[in-house]
Amino acid sequence: MTELATLYAHHIAERQRTTAEALEATGHGALVISSGKVYTHFADDQDAPFHPTPHFAHWCPLPGPHHLLVVQPGHRPRLIRYAPEDFWYEQAPLGDPFWAAAFEVEEAGSVEEAWSRLGALGNAAYIGNETDRACEAGLDLNPDLLTAHLNWHRTAKSDYEVCCIDEATVIAARGHKAARAAFLAGATELEIHHAYVVAAGIVDHEMPYGSIVALNEKGATLHYEGKRTSVRNGAVLLIDAGAQVRGYASDITRTLVAPHCDSRFAALVAGMERIELELCDLVKPALPYGDLHHQGHLRIAALLQESGLLKVGPEEAVEKGLSRPFFPHGLGHHLGIQVHDVAGRQGAPDGTPTPPPPQHPFLRTTRTIDEGQVFTVEPGLYFIPMLLRPFRENEHKGAFDWALIDALTPCGGIRIEDNLLVTATGHRNLTRPHLPD
Ligand code: GLY
Ligand code: MN
Repeated sequence: MTELATLYAHHIAERQRTTAEALEATGHGALVISSGKVYTHFADDQDAPFHPTPHFAHWCPLPGPHHLLVVQPGHRPRLIRYAPEDFWYEQAPLGDPFWAAAFEVEEAGSVEEAWSRLGALGNAAYIGNETDRACEAGLDLNPDLLTAHLNWHRTAKSDYEVCCIDEATVIAARGHKAARAAFLAGATELEIHHAYVVAAGIVDHEMPYGSIVALNEKGATLHYEGKRTSVRNGAVLLIDAGAQVRGYASDITRTLVAPHCDSRFAALVAGMERIELELCDLVKPALPYGDLHHQGHLRIAALLQESGLLKVGPEEAVEKGLSRPFFPHGLGHHLGIQVHDVAGRQGAPDGTPTPPPPQHPFLRTTRTIDEGQVFTVEPGLYFIPMLLRPFRENEHKGAFDWALIDALTPCGGIRIEDNLLVTATGHRNLTRPHLPD
């Protein structure tokens, strides 16, 4: 067995254990998960790029729609592989993938055949988007409680999953290095994006999310999607881009400055690099992620004071909410099959919600940090006119240096993002070994 196959065997053993536990807790006898059906654009015959049901991907890296997985405690899982004859789209043969030994593999030439192969299953739940067929088959459709249990277990990554994220990091790091070189050579956003995908060896729809390639002021739009061809020789590049391996994502952001960038903004970027590394250093089990987020605000507020953007100290700034217009998003999120992975706001396997505090509505994880979690640490500092505007007139207006804010607004923003695995005593930074700066 290869090392990957061994890791995968352990991953599947853990899936068997946690799924049996979840089914027991919800009173179901079996679980059917489909890889899902494609989404066809309205009034069109074109499909969106296919994303498998994440719960299916958690078990099996087989790409494509309509496969069915049947999990029954005490039995080897069944994989009914949808394998039609087709002259429109390529249907690659299964071959001999490292993961196939985990399943009783059957093949079905049509969707109807796949579902008819299910047979009688006592009290089975279904997860996926082929709900009409699942309803006909008498399955319990996407039950919330079972989904919550399965989501909860998805936050503890197996060594196999970490290996996938590691590989996705190696690919993304290649892209980031090429993007940096293109930026320093004066490239446009589109050219920088192309440099990234060429070096990564991927096409756009293989990315886990649309790349954010923002020159100058566009860095202040958190999920900027444009790819301008009209701007060259940017002073600042904010690039947020990842890669995907066997369904698992990396999610990496860097902010780079060109030699002609305003030195006051370049100093903020250097300060944020230091803050991001300090925050990563704090990551260890038992720390509430919300406390790490708070530490992020305190440190960013200190940087704002050092630079003269704010005229009050960090404690006062955070208490009065003055760091929030500069850093409006959460410090990070779980990472896995989904870029913003599940169960970050879940307090227990049964789905008990743990919402973010009202002053930090965009915080995506309120969990206590625990061994096996993989999440991002991505502090930011932006000049976002719509968020700063109310402060120009309110009781806090004297706490800001508005001339300096106006001078730096064309530089956009800063975000620096690494992916961390929590270990028994601390963490492993998955990103820095491949992309040190
Ligand atoms: N990579 C984009 C985000 O984390 O929201
Ligand atoms: Mn992220």
